[in-house]
Amino acid sequence: MRVVTTGAAGFIGSTLVDRLLREGHHVLAVDDLSTGHVDNLADSASDPGLVFLEGNVIADSTRREMASFQAEVFFHLAAQMNVRHSVADPLRDAHNNVLGCLATLDSARSGKARKFVFASSGGTIYGRAKEFPIAESAQLDPHSPYGASKAAGEMYLRVFRRLYGLQTTALALGNVYGPRQDPYGEAGVVSIFASALLDGRPTTIFGNGETTRDYVYVDDVVEAFLLAAGPAGDGLRLNIGSGQETSVRTLHRMVAAAAGAPDTPTMEPPQAGELERVELDSRAAHRVLGWEPRTDLPEGIGRTVAWLRDRTAVPSIRS
Ligand SMILES: NC(=O)c1ccc[n+]([C@@H]2O[C@H](COP(=O)([O-])OP(=O)(O)OC[C@H]3O[C@@H](n4cnc5c(N)ncnc54)[C@H](O)[C@@H]3O)[C@@H](O)[C@H]2O)c1
Repeated sequence: MRVVTTGAAGFIGSTLVDRLLREGHHVLAVDDLSTGHVDNLADSASDPGLVFLEGNVIADSTRREMASFQAEVFFHLAAQMNVRHSVADPLRDAHNNVLGCLATLDSARSGKARKFVFASSGGTIYGRAKEFPIAESAQLDPHSPYGASKAAGEMYLRVFRRLYGLQTTALALGNVYGPRQDPYGEAGVVSIFASALLDGRPTTIFGNGETTRDYVYVDDVVEAFLLAAGPAGDGLRLNIGSGQETSVRTLHRMVAAAAGAPDTPTMEPPQAGELERVELDSRAAHRVLGWEPRTDLPEGIGRTVAWLRDRTAVPSIRS
């Protein structure tokens, strides 16, 4: 199958591209390298099925290339994914995320693709939910421009499905973690804690440590994208999470244990706009796609810590 993957040099996108190539698909991998790194595609660089295109999905030239690739499926993961950046600069966030989704949808339409799979955000589109775990039927109530941009993207999916018969599925991802997540960014707390603890740097928890998130391992998320590439899930949003909430204090303890470091984070006052709880009900993804998370948190943390350890041991692969 021929596919377009946007955000292909990012954390989740590159893991998806590796898997697609292993399964023999032909991939147009698009990324503007705003936060992604070509190094993330190093394992697949010599694969004859890979075409890498450095470009912004909004640019005319990129849109032309995406449309003319004759892809059956588009996986749209390109986005500005930092909630705090979206609060600081909501126009820039909307430009990248709302127009980026629309431009990619339009390329899929003009290229006559069958299916469009969108990386939405279960951790932000529902805001402060009233019932847990949060089901897809919960009200959309984003508390950040980033969450609003993902909700807007989902609306455009619905419009393109209605107008042009393009099959669409939005995967509302929990807090994805695993190898390749940027340990120096502000998002991705497993990598941030693990990297600091391995280097002997201090770690900080904002708030009382009781805020919870639904952590889901990157390989499980990639599996969901592959399953969503088929006809199942058309017209739906599907939550992709572990179905378990873990407090940040517990997470720190687990990462410290895996890294063999002391569990002594500094506690700081909470940051504005933080949600107290995220726990996603992913039973619809199981029912519709046959998807379920396979990697439990201790195992996933162990793999992430092992990857960071190897990476630190070979500084030349750091970019
Ligand atoms: N990581 C998570 O926990 C999480 C949770 C929910 C949803 N998501 C979504 O999943 C997707 C992938 O996230 P990630 O964690 O891999 O982030 P990432 O920053 O590692 O990857 C995003 C990639 O998109 C590229 N990009 C950004 N804007 C672009 C544009 N306009 N044109 C072309 N390329 C562009 C970046 O260079 C980067 O490589 C994003 O859409 C994100 O919003 C991630």
